[in-house]
Amino acid sequence: MGRRPAGCILAVALLCGAMAANAGDPRFAVASAHPLATAAGYRVFENGGNACDAAITVAAVLAVVEPYSSGLGGGGFFLLHDAASGSQVMIDAREVAPSAVRPALFFDDAGRPRAGASVRGGLAAAIPGLPAAIDHLARRCAKLPLHSTLAPAIALARDGFAVDPRYVRIAQMREKFLQEAAGAGVFLDNGRAPGPGHVLRQPDLAVTLQRIGREGAARAFYRGTVAEGMVRTVNAAGGVWQSADLEAYRVVERVPQRFRYRGATITAAALPSAGGVALAQAFGMLAHLDPGDIHETGTAHLVVEVLRRAFRDRLALGDPDHAAVPLAELLDGGRLRVEAAGIDRRRASSLAPPVSDGTGPGSGNTTHFSIIDREGNRVAATLTINLLFGSGLVAQGTGVLLNNQMDDFTLCPDLANSFRLRGGEANAMAPGKRPLSSMTPAFVEDDKGVLVLGAPGGSRIISQVLLAALEYLRHPVVDLKRLVALPRYHHQYWPDRVEIEPEGFSAEWRAAMERMGHRLHVVNRRWGNMQAVFQPRGDGAAQAASDPRGGDVAWY
Ligand code: GLY
Repeated sequence: MGRRPAGCILAVALLCGAMAANAGDPRFAVASAHPLATAAGYRVFENGGNACDAAITVAAVLAVVEPYSSGLGGGGFFLLHDAASGSQVMIDAREVAPSAVRPALFFDDAGRPRAGASVRGGLAAAIPGLPAAIDHLARRCAKLPLHSTLAPAIALARDGFAVDPRYVRIAQMREKFLQEAAGAGVFLDNGRAPGPGHVLRQPDLAVTLQRIGREGAARAFYRGTVAEGMVRTVNAAGGVWQSADLEAYRVVERVPQRFRYRGATITAAALPSAGGVALAQAFGMLAHLDPGDIHETGTAHLVVEVLRRAFRDRLALGDPDHAAVPLAELLDGGRLRVEAAGIDRRRASSLAPPVSDGTGPGSGNTTHFSIIDREGNRVAATLTINLLFGSGLVAQGTGVLLNNQMDDFTLCPDLANSFRLRGGEANAMAPGKRPLSSMTPAFVEDDKGVLVLGAPGGSRIISQVLLAALEYLRHPVVDLKRLVALPRYHHQYWPDRVEIEPEGFSAEWRAAMERMGHRLHVVNRRWGNMQAVFQPRGDGAAQAASDPRGGDVAWY
């Protein structure tokens, strides 16, 4: 019944792997969203470092050169595979809510949500996790000293780097926001979005990174003058941080979400990411549905239907250290089989809606990188400060741009966040709690080898990883550049619509989906910026590929 989208071939022809070129050694590979970060990662390997060292360097360089995506003032998830033991762990560096936070702070006296309170200013910022993760990686699995793995980021922050067209475009989009936010003028050029080639210098950030390299994050970031600067800036902008919140911050080592699908093993982020749970549910249903080509309409219909159900169940998810999440029930094989059996192969389902409607702007930001080293160690890391340039607050004297991750909590069930996501009681805001995330760093292992992947894109991260993993598993030969470039569609239960990219879906494809009862919504920009590496079984060379959307000033 289905047809291939017209733009598939075009998209494959437009591939660009410039950010992910392998430096010559076939046994390691790095893919990241910025060529400076990728190059710095390769240099770590040339200097004898391993995947953990490279992950520290890449994360720190991205914090400098993509300040709109991730940074010391944000957090993320690092999925690690240790080749010697064969074990896997997720380093949960998600931000946490400050101890004095109360949902009431986000509402006015009449009980109405205070506009923008969760996305700009002091209340929007949660306690950052990335510096603790860098420190943790350095102690847990790195070979090189932290001052050396942070050196490339320190140099780029101190000496500056020429901003690229993507930076220019994003700074233009956020120019007013940056003009109004405390300390954020550093990202502008004389108060305006810079032009291409402008050299962005961040001397305060260089000093902060240098201190972390010398003294470790516990002393240099979570205590002392950097911590004091963050507390002062956040509270002057209406926040409620206390020094003790920073001192108490710890990363958590979690068992990743791991499951089997048709002979393959898939490992992905655990809670407080909703991503691994959604993938496990989606694959658990698809195992009964025999999907084919993800762009053939019969299969696209099935993928949309399993996403619809997985995102409905997301309402029950939250930080597992604070909420009772019925994980066993949600992942129960019998239940997923029944869910799959309830999918009509010819008609879109109509699930009961959440409490009421509501939409947001949906312009998020995040970054992902994937690494494999000579020994077979792997890192898949997705990092974020949430929306473009986070809360807009740069903590005085530190160069640290703070996140607006508080927006990922559910303020009330009928209020969607910036990704149009609803939530339930499990994701209610509470002191010391981590907000639910969609970040989905993942490993896919089968007879061909291992694929390490992930992407930015808010709620659309989950569908991106699902589509790429399905296509990887379907083909006997891996075409990594094709995988990261695939035209994308997405469904997240509510709003009840299939979002599609503007290119890659023909009129016939759209008509066939509409005949099945799907409401299509063409998003006016492509989304995502997938970064993938692949290590074939045996002696084959490791490969890396970066999403062409990153090179063409994508929105994600
Ligand atoms: N802040 C976006 C996410 O974590 O999903």
